Amino acid sequence: MKTVQHLLAASALTSLASSSAVARREYDDITRRATNQAPNGYAPAKVDCPSTRPSIRVANGLSNEETEWLKKRRPNTIQPMKDLLGRLDFEGFDAAGYINKLGENTTALPNVAIAFSGGGYRAMTNGAGNLAAFDSRTSGSTEKGHIGGLLQSATYIAGLSGGGWLVGSIYANNFTSVQNTISHNEDGAVWQLGNSILKGPKTGGIQLLSTVDYYKNIYDAAAAKENAGFNFNLSLTDYWGRALSFQLVNATDGGPGFTFSSIQDDEDFKNGNAPMPILLADERAPGETIISLNTTNVEFNPFEMGSFDPTLYGFAPLKYLGSNFSEGRLPDNEPCIAGFDNIGFIMGTSSSLFNQFILQLDGQDSVPKFLKDALTGILSTIGDGSNDIADYTPNPFLDYNNRSNPSAEGERLTLVDGGEDGQNIPFNPLIQPIRAVDVIFAVDSSADTVPDSAANWPNGTSLVATYQRSTNATIQNGTAFPAIPDQNTFVNLGLNNRPTFFGCDAQNATTDAGTAPLIVYIPNSPYVYNSNVSTFQMEYNNTERNAIIENGYNVATQGNSTRDDKWSTCVGCAVLSRSFIRNNQDVPSVCQQCFDRYCWNGTVSSEKPAPYFPQLVGKAINVQSSSGKSTPSLICWGVAAFITSYFTMC
Ligand SMILES: *[C@@H]1O[C@H](CO)[C@@H](O)[C@H](O)[C@H]1NC(C)=O
Ligand SMILES: *[C@@H]1O[C@H](CO)[C@@H](O)[C@H](O)[C@H]1NC(C)=O
Ligand SMILES: *[C@@H]1O[C@H](CO)[C@@H](O)[C@H](O)[C@H]1NC(C)=O
Ligand SMILES: *[C@@H]1O[C@H](CO)[C@@H](O)[C@H](O)[C@H]1NC(C)=O
Ligand SMILES: *[C@@H]1O[C@H](CO)[C@@H](O)[C@H](O)[C@H]1NC(C)=O
Ligand SMILES: *[C@@H]1O[C@H](CO)[C@@H](O)[C@H](O)[C@H]1NC(C)=O
Ligand SMILES: *[C@@H]1O[C@H](CO)[C@@H](O)[C@H](O)[C@H]1NC(C)=O
Ligand SMILES: *[C@@H]1O[C@H](CO)[C@@H](O)[C@H](O)[C@H]1NC(C)=O
Ligand SMILES: *[C@@H]1O[C@H](CO)[C@@H](O)[C@H](O)[C@H]1NC(C)=O
Ligand SMILES: *[C@@H]1O[C@H](CO)[C@@H](O)[C@H](O)[C@H]1NC(C)=O
Ligand SMILES: *[C@@H]1O[C@H](CO)[C@@H](O)[C@H](O)[C@H]1NC(C)=O
Ligand SMILES: *[C@@H]1O[C@H](CO)[C@@H](O)[C@H](O)[C@H]1NC(C)=O
Repeated sequence: MKTVQHLLAASALTSLASSSAVARREYDDITRRATNQAPNGYAPAKVDCPSTRPSIRVANGLSNEETEWLKKRRPNTIQPMKDLLGRLDFEGFDAAGYINKLGENTTALPNVAIAFSGGGYRAMTNGAGNLAAFDSRTSGSTEKGHIGGLLQSATYIAGLSGGGWLVGSIYANNFTSVQNTISHNEDGAVWQLGNSILKGPKTGGIQLLSTVDYYKNIYDAAAAKENAGFNFNLSLTDYWGRALSFQLVNATDGGPGFTFSSIQDDEDFKNGNAPMPILLADERAPGETIISLNTTNVEFNPFEMGSFDPTLYGFAPLKYLGSNFSEGRLPDNEPCIAGFDNIGFIMGTSSSLFNQFILQLDGQDSVPKFLKDALTGILSTIGDGSNDIADYTPNPFLDYNNRSNPSAEGERLTLVDGGEDGQNIPFNPLIQPIRAVDVIFAVDSSADTVPDSAANWPNGTSLVATYQRSTNATIQNGTAFPAIPDQNTFVNLGLNNRPTFFGCDAQNATTDAGTAPLIVYIPNSPYVYNSNVSTFQMEYNNTERNAIIENGYNVATQGNSTRDDKWSTCVGCAVLSRSFIRNNQDVPSVCQQCFDRYCWNGTVSSEKPAPYFPQLVGKAINVQSSSGKSTPSLICWGVAAFITSYFTMC
């Protein structure tokens, strides 16, 4: 096990840490910018204030914007839901007719959410395969045995860390589909994972930068933010987020002007034709080094960032992040700032565990000294133990909720990777009672298992964490979660090797029974490819990328229902389950059979399992090149001791 300290000791950056003034280059305005939502590219800038000055709101409900948006979205899920359910065979039960009968009564209708776990590029690509299966736009996804349309039926779609790259990238690119993304980028645009971010984008497509220009571009963007004149403090996450954007945002230079709040104006989102994307991060309170389970979970949605947790219990308007709020207000003499909420910075925040990867730039000969010096400068200001943070100075929650808000007294709010508290699936925003979600399709790409087992498969650890948190009266604040067994039980009963439903008995949740959603747990498992690649593999050729995506598609559909010919119907039953209870509807017998088969029934089997070596279900995809050469280099770097319990080292 390596620690950050080990890493730094081994790194030439340490010796550079005291080096002189950071070289500066004049900001080279990027005229080829694809969109200009932010006032000045990556640099936040002053804008006219709206007629009602932005402020921090108490988290005792949804934002007005979300409430208004739901009035469009919920009705727009009805037709896709009817289409999906209408294609499934409920053996005599008319599911589409049942939905029809509910009319536009959103209290009665199913309310669906989807969640994508963290786990680096493995999580992004396995998540992408699942997302493609859920998406009716994927060709073939509405055939018999498939489940396309689940995405179109969903109200919320959440991601964290690598899962956040997936969700963020789809929304940064006009709610495009996974299929469109992988079939239209062979000449080099997004999702080109063959070049790690240390090398920069493959040229071609929309990107014409040389590697050196790429480094300069990243440096210049960060420098522009630092020099914007409002005391924004850079963190490694600025560089990391910029680099990530070249892979994830389909625009020149990774769209330095693309903000997360601009999703508000995306045609599909605005009109309620796409679910609401939510990214998750954790707060690292001042002086805290270990991110515990009671840490504040901070969500980013297109309208706001903040938390329903009882600690922070407030939300800031995302568009005006960077403005100097205090006591929940923006004082009259403070300008409105916009452009802070760059979408790459937010994806980088949710995945800040990986930002140390950017330190590897120090070892690259072609990296210009000014960029190395900038990284060194940050390390020396922040201190070794904290370099995984994303710096949100000025802290929008300064002097807000002083009694319970751990960061109330600081000028700076520091956020870290959303999985660092062990909750590697972004459940927190989706189990808020106010959102009234019925069912969460939870795609888990966590790397839980360790030798003697095959490494990097999930084993329920993230579900256990959220379950535990929901049992702590101090922190859970009304969030309910189904009972979850220990990890040994997951492995012994095979709950991590096939989809499993948790919380089928709605009465048996941790708190107020009425609000606990059903969890459809879809663990990453081998179907046609051993997709348990290391979290820290930073390069994938397109063949391997596509193999993991195809494996994810097969896992989500259980081989297009060839492993179980009722599977797609069972997905429909999960969608309908809570609404059956609410509407006093008899459960069709085919659904009862699904629940008998897929629900965890409360049995535990906590003895130490035999080592877990899952076998492919279908025929293996061959990813070997004909020449048989070039496995992508596996680039390892250290992570602090506190996170190695969640992430297996490579
Ligand atoms: C909507 O559905 C709920 C739950 O079934 C029911 O209690 C309520 O009366 C319905 N409202 C209308 C207007 O039908
Ligand atoms: C975004 O996608 C929609 C289809 O969903 C399309 O009509 C629109 O033209 C796209 N916008 C841009 C800017 O590509
Ligand atoms: C990227 O955008 C260009 C034009 O803006 C479009 O032609 C291309 O299909 C997009 N690529 C992907 C992968 O979405
Ligand atoms: C932010 O940066 C300024 C100068 O670069 C420094 O004086 C200040 O202490 C930093 N703030 C924090 C919270 O680190
Ligand atoms: C519950 O949460 C509180 C507050 O966050 C914390 O102090 C306490 O240690 C937690 N209790 C348990 C049993 O984890
Ligand atoms: C979380 O619990 C730990 C003790 O388990 C405590 O030291 C810490 O202050 C708590 N954090 C919050 C935000 O309540
Ligand atoms: C959640 O926390 C806030 C702030 O502490 C509190 O006012 C509210 O009553 C809590 N909600 C529930 C349902 O416990
Ligand atoms: C499950 O994962 C956790 C976290 O990595 C690990 O400590 C534990 O040994 C694993 N248990 C099994 C049975 O795989
Ligand atoms: C399921 O369908 C997808 C796409 O239509 C296909 O790629 C995959 O091979 C199929 N899986 C099986 C097991 O037939
Ligand atoms: C519960 O599930 C276990 C294994 O998953 C099975 O052996 C047992 O028979 C089931 N119990 C009931 C009452 O269905
Ligand atoms: C019901 O909840 C209890 C504890 O909360 C748990 O032990 C039991 O296994 C749960 N049963 C089911 C079927 O979820
Ligand atoms: C792609 O990556 C896989 C897995 O590392 C490797 O086996 C294969 O040879 C690579 N293919 C090419 C064309 O480089």
